[in-house]
Amino acid sequence: MTKPLVLINFKTYKEAYGDKALELARKIAKVKKTKYDLAIAPSLLTIKEVAQKTNLTIFSQHTDHINLGANTGRIPIDELKSFGVKGTILNHSERKIPLKFLKEIVQRCKNKKLITVVCASTISEIKKVALFHPNYIAYEPKEFIGGNISVTEAKPEIIVRAVETVKYLSPKTKVLCGAGIHSKEDLGHALLLGTEGVLIGHAVPKAKDPKKFLEEMLI
Ligand code: G3P
Repeated sequence: MTKPLVLINFKTYKEAYGDKALELARKIAKVKKTKYDLAIAPSLLTIKEVAQKTNLTIFSQHTDHINLGANTGRIPIDELKSFGVKGTILNHSERKIPLKFLKEIVQRCKNKKLITVVCASTISEIKKVALFHPNYIAYEPKEFIGGNISVTEAKPEIIVRAVETVKYLSPKTKVLCGAGIHSKEDLGHALLLGTEGVLIGHAVPKAKDPKKFLEEMLI
């Protein structure tokens, strides 16, 4: 990923589950983008179909610290890779991972070349996960997730601190921010504050016209 990353998390929104995941992904795939790398994170139950039926860059919403073998209800890196998945969100505030497992998953992803986006809700959590040297750290203060006040508007100074903290502890790790991001202004502010992209949740799946909405955001 050489350009700023815009990663759209489908979560389990009713506009993006089951057959709707591929429908939404196909709308997003039509968006012309030059200035940004675009990726989506469909649900784990729809990820294979979306990865194999679109040309989008696909991330999973979670990955587990296991190899293929006798594991039940787990998500192995190898299977995601076999679908053509390029990366994974880890430790999202809606899917936390104990630090000891998170450290192991990040290392396993590095070994298998799966891009890692590790989420952190606070500066102190950033300080802990930066020591695992993931590809990206996504700073997402919980109180702004799902709302229409973007973190770039409400807490710009904390985003600057997050970027400084990551760059000090893990210079090669890129910083994303997320929570309430819903306009090209929010995206522009995020980049001005020193991040290298954003994580978006509800704004795209819940847009009346997701393709038009995203095209306007990525101008
Ligand atoms: O993973 C990104 C997500 O947590 C942000 O959610 O709805 O505030 O864009 P939202």
